[in-house]
Amino acid sequence: MARMGIGIIGCGNIAATYLRNAALFGDVDLIACADRVPEMAERRAGEFGLRAMGVDALLAEPAIDLVLNLTIPAAHREVTQAALAAGKHVFTEKPLGVTLREGRELVAEAERRGLRLGSAPDTFLGAAGRRARALIDKGAIGRPVLGTAFMMGRGMEHWHPNPQFYYQPGGGPVLDMGPYYLTTLVNLLGPVVRVSAVARTGEAERLITAEGPFRNTRFPVGTPTSLLSLLEFAGGAVVTFGASWDVFRHSNHPIELHGTEGSLRLPDPDTFGGDVALSPRGEPWAEHPSEPEPFGAINWPFDAPRLANYRMLGVADLVRSIREDREARASGRLALHVLEVMEAILTAGETGSAVSIEGAVERPAALGEDEATALLSSDAA
Ligand SMILES: NC(=O)c1ccc[n+]([C@@H]2O[C@H](COP(=O)([O-])OP(=O)(O)OC[C@H]3O[C@@H](n4cnc5c(N)ncnc54)[C@H](O)[C@@H]3O)[C@@H](O)[C@H]2O)c1
Repeated sequence: MARMGIGIIGCGNIAATYLRNAALFGDVDLIACADRVPEMAERRAGEFGLRAMGVDALLAEPAIDLVLNLTIPAAHREVTQAALAAGKHVFTEKPLGVTLREGRELVAEAERRGLRLGSAPDTFLGAAGRRARALIDKGAIGRPVLGTAFMMGRGMEHWHPNPQFYYQPGGGPVLDMGPYYLTTLVNLLGPVVRVSAVARTGEAERLITAEGPFRNTRFPVGTPTSLLSLLEFAGGAVVTFGASWDVFRHSNHPIELHGTEGSLRLPDPDTFGGDVALSPRGEPWAEHPSEPEPFGAINWPFDAPRLANYRMLGVADLVRSIREDREARASGRLALHVLEVMEAILTAGETGSAVSIEGAVERPAALGEDEATALLSSDAA
């Protein structure tokens, strides 16, 4: 198969990450980029040597087989739908849609058209995610019984100049950061069947302290900023998942899982690397660093903190899945399940009643070390 022609729609912040990483992968050929603001597309095209196009022209371009949707969440549905209607495969940034209904429509439409739909996050395919999956699969902690997952911080208004949208319906800590934690958990434990939650809003108004036009102004908060949920997995495990933007400092590990034979500790699931630690039957933690493994080395010296950032790995796997006629790992179906769980957390938090999850999903096939290496271009391997 020739390399797959890819066009990007949405040339903001995260587009630079995908564009920089594209050169690592053998099967992907970035051709063009588009944005509803033409200057954004021109800037990224100039930086990375692509063609800047209008959105409609990009969708009509026969050399483009796959659209990478890197627009804002509110536009994900519209852009993914337009790309599918133009006969393109799609990989979209998270979340798949902002409601379960949107997500269901997109997955159904891709299937109806015989096109592939993939979705971020793909961090679970990084070195730490693969290590944790291999340990679980070989029974290193026995049967998983319970666990904890915490995404907690102070929110966005101290660094983001226009943070208001994060605090309105469609935003909030669960929809914004939940995909990383929940996709990792589903990859390790399988599908969720029931969700309970309690929601709180720490402050009714937030004060913007970041530099910019809104500095020292307040805005009202329209969605809960602290949610503690209980996730029951089909396999029997139960995990407490806390997501909050009301926390100044804490000492909880991002994810810990405890089974009949031991405990497993995972690093921040928003990165591809970090240390996985295993304690068999109460022995001291044994650290498994990600650094030597494919997609585990720190490669991101541009922002603090320094981290392993290989966004685009899920796209490369999706492209390979077409050639191999198998399901992509970071699939639309997986993202749809995660979206259903996130919506259930919000509903359970609002109503106080547990919510059953209807859609089931299989765990994606584990990504082996050789298979991961084979996704790299010969220059990068
Ligand atoms: N910024 C990050 O660090 C980060 C990290 C991981 C994931 N994400 C996700 O990536 C996505 C984009 O985030 P971002 O930070 O790059 O946002 P951004 O606002 O910097 O960029 C989004 C771009 O999409 C364009 N756009 C919006 N609607 C469009 C439409 N209908 N058609 C064409 N172009 C359109 C905007 O003009 C803008 O240039 C979001 O889903 C976000 O959750 C961002």
